[in-house]
Amino acid sequence: MNELDNLVEAARAEFAQAAAPADLENAKARYLGKAGRITELMKGMAALSVDEKKSRGAAINLAKQAIEGALTMRRQSLADAELEAQLKAEALDVSLPGRQRGAGGLHPVSLTLERIEAIFGSMGFEVAEGPEIESDWFNFTALNTPEDHPARSMHDTFYVEGGSAKAPNLLRTHTSPMQIRHAVQHVKHHRSALDAGQGMPEIRVIAPGRTYRVDSDATHSPMFHQCEGLWIGENVSFKDLKVVFTDFCRTFFENDDLVLRFRPSFFPFTEPSAEIDIQFPSGPLAGRWLEVAGSGQVHPNVVRNMGLDPERYIGFAFGMGPDRLTMLRYGVNDLRLFFDGDIRFLSQFR
Ligand code: DAH
Repeated sequence: MNELDNLVEAARAEFAQAAAPADLENAKARYLGKAGRITELMKGMAALSVDEKKSRGAAINLAKQAIEGALTMRRQSLADAELEAQLKAEALDVSLPGRQRGAGGLHPVSLTLERIEAIFGSMGFEVAEGPEIESDWFNFTALNTPEDHPARSMHDTFYVEGGSAKAPNLLRTHTSPMQIRHAVQHVKHHRSALDAGQGMPEIRVIAPGRTYRVDSDATHSPMFHQCEGLWIGENVSFKDLKVVFTDFCRTFFENDDLVLRFRPSFFPFTEPSAEIDIQFPSGPLAGRWLEVAGSGQVHPNVVRNMGLDPERYIGFAFGMGPDRLTMLRYGVNDLRLFFDGDIRFLSQFR
């Protein structure tokens, strides 16, 4: 091999060893730069004759081209390698399992409310909603609850600002004010037919929602749920209450052998009144009477406050505890679990 071939080989070897573009450019300078080996060889031709210059120049040029070719190839392969590395670093591993987002679900009490609405809906009941901040009139007075009734005491009821001393505002202690609110709207809607003696369609409504009392232990929470029911017509009797509520409970608990007991009781807004107990024929609660609702025939004073003539209109009402129903249905023994927001508890109902 002659001297020029050796030079080309040496350049190739150095280029191949350059691991980064900067190393390669340094190596290039050693061969093709101003003080590089090729430039030196060119300068060394000064003393040669014209013919010698021609052949020597052509040979050096060939070597120069070979070195330039090697340089270009090495540049390209370094650039390729860099791109490859970059692509690898940025690569998405599509075979990695994705990060899971837990599926949400309805709160167990919401599940119960939906169930209650569906069952009563199938019996022709509308669903009404009303305010949680209520006036003393709707919560107590209109419901025939006298001034000195203990439920009105500060110890039992959350009074809130707004309203006057004579008509204070409060967080509703039950959903019963919805009896009045809904009936008044209904009556207003049918006022002219009523005035003309034509009567009105029956009132058949349930009103679920949040209620509040100053109370807190394993079976009482300051905020809890109730669902009111009201059926008013010209010929609605206590028998209808028994049929409707029995049907509801058996459907709700999916148990046709469930037994109900209507136990005489007292509420200012109903007369007669009854507390409704249920008994499971089998299972862990078998044989125990469990209270699920208050009920009764709507008091004539309340019918009057609805804007109706109690001589003509009569019906029943009930108020039940969806929290309690949820506890019974799922076997939950502490009411507070519903309102703690513990995902371990709540996720069981998804
Ligand atoms: N509002 C009553 C309570 O919270 C429950 C109740 C009893 C509602 C009798 C009614 C009823 O509609 O007729 O204790």
